[in-house]
Amino acid sequence: MEHNDRKTQHYKRTIFKLFACLFMLVMLIGFETFFVCCHTLWRQPGNTNRQPVTSISTAITPLWQPPAVTTIPAGEKGTAILYGQALIAATARYLGPKGSVLHISNGMNCQNCHLRAGTKPFGNNYSLVAASYPKFRARSNSSESLNKRISDCFERSLNGIAPDSTSKEMMAIKAYIEWLGSEVKKGEQPEGAGIKKVALLSRPADMDKGHKVYTQQCQSCHGASGEGVLHTDGTVYTYPPLWGPNSYNDAAGLYRLSNFAGYVKYNMPFGVDYDSPKLTDEEAWDVAAFINSQPRPHKDQSADWHDIKQKPADFPFGPYADNFSENQHKYGPYKTMQP
Ligand code: HEC
Ligand code: HEC
Repeated sequence: MEHNDRKTQHYKRTIFKLFACLFMLVMLIGFETFFVCCHTLWRQPGNTNRQPVTSISTAITPLWQPPAVTTIPAGEKGTAILYGQALIAATARYLGPKGSVLHISNGMNCQNCHLRAGTKPFGNNYSLVAASYPKFRARSNSSESLNKRISDCFERSLNGIAPDSTSKEMMAIKAYIEWLGSEVKKGEQPEGAGIKKVALLSRPADMDKGHKVYTQQCQSCHGASGEGVLHTDGTVYTYPPLWGPNSYNDAAGLYRLSNFAGYVKYNMPFGVDYDSPKLTDEEAWDVAAFINSQPRPHKDQSADWHDIKQKPADFPFGPYADNFSENQHKYGPYKTMQP
C-alpha cells in the first residue's frame, strides 16, 4: 500500500515536472515570437512599400569619374600627361615665385580651386573642358581655344603670365586636361561637372554676417587676414590665400559671388563634399560677399564683355544694359535680375 502511494506520488511529481517544462517551453516560444515580431516592426516602422535597394541605386546618374590611369599611354604623350597633372597639382613648385622652371604666377596652385587635380565632383573639375573647347565665350567675344582658357586662369586666378603656347608646360597642361575629358562626348553634361549652383537669396549677400562665418569656419586655415599659410619650404601654400597681394585678382572667376558661393558651399571647410555641405546657402553667399570685399590685385578688364547685355547678373563692374546698380550686381539680390 505504502509502496503504491510512493509510486503515485512519484508519477504525480514527474507529470508536474513535465507540465512545468512544457509551460516554460510555451512561454519561451511565445516570448521569442513576440520579440522577433517587435524587432522586425521596429526596423520597418509602418513601411510596407520598401523598394529593393538595387532600384534606388539605378535611379541615380553615376558621377563623372576620370579615366583609369591605365589609359595613360606610354612614351612622350604619357610623360606629358603626367607632367601636366603635376603642374596642376603643384603649380607653384614649377611656376610660382620660387618655382623651378619659371616665375610667372602668384604662388597658388591650379588645384587650390580645381580640386584633386581637377577630378573632384563639383570641385570645379575639368570633365567638360576637352569636349567643349574651342568654344565661343561672351567675355572675350571670340571662339576660345583651350590654350586661351588656360591662359585666362594664369592671368586672373594666378594673377600672373601664361606660359607660351608652344612651351613644354602649356603642352603638358593641355595634354592632361584633354586626357581627363577624353571619355566625355561633345554636348554631354556629366553629373558632377564644374561648380554646383547655390539657390539665390531674396536679400543681398551680407558681408558682416559673412565676416562671422569667416572667423568661425575659415580663419583657422586661411588666416586672420586671408593671407594663407606657406609651407615651411616657402615655395607652395599649405592653405592658400583668399585675399591680399598673393590671391586671385578681380578679373578671376571666383570674384563673381555665384562661383564663389558654389565652390565654397560644396568644398569648404576643406574636406566637405557636395553631398555633405556644412555651410547653409546664406552662409555661402555671405562669406563670398565678405571675402570678395577685401583688397586684392586689380586687372584691367575694360576689353571684356564687348556686348554688355551678355554680362552675368553677378558681374561686379559696369556699365550694364539694365538699370540695376553696380552694388546690386555685386551683392544681389539677383532674383529679379536677368540671369
Ligand atoms: C582662384 C581659383 C582658381 C585657380 C587658382 C585656377 N582656376 Fe581655373 N577656373 C576657376 C573658376 C572659378 C573657373 C570657372 C569660371 C567661370 O565659369 O567663369 C575656372 C575655369 C577654368 C577652366 C575652364 C573650365 C570649363 O569647364 O570651361 C580651365 C580650363 C581652367 N580654369 C584651368 C585652370 C588652370 C590650368 C589653372 C592653373 C594655371 C587654373 N585654372 C587655376 C578658378 C580657378
Ligand atoms: C581645414 C582647413 C581649411 C578650412 C577650415 C577652410 N579651408 Fe579653404 N582651403 C583649404 C585648402 C587646403 C585649400 C586648397 C585645396 C587644395 O589645394 O587641394 C583651400 C582652398 C580654398 C579656396 C580656393 C583657393 C583660394 O585660395 O582662393 C577658397 C575660395 C576657400 N578655400 C575658401 C574657404 C572658405 C570660405 C572657408 C570657410 C567657410 C574655408 N575655405 C575653410 C583649407 C581650408
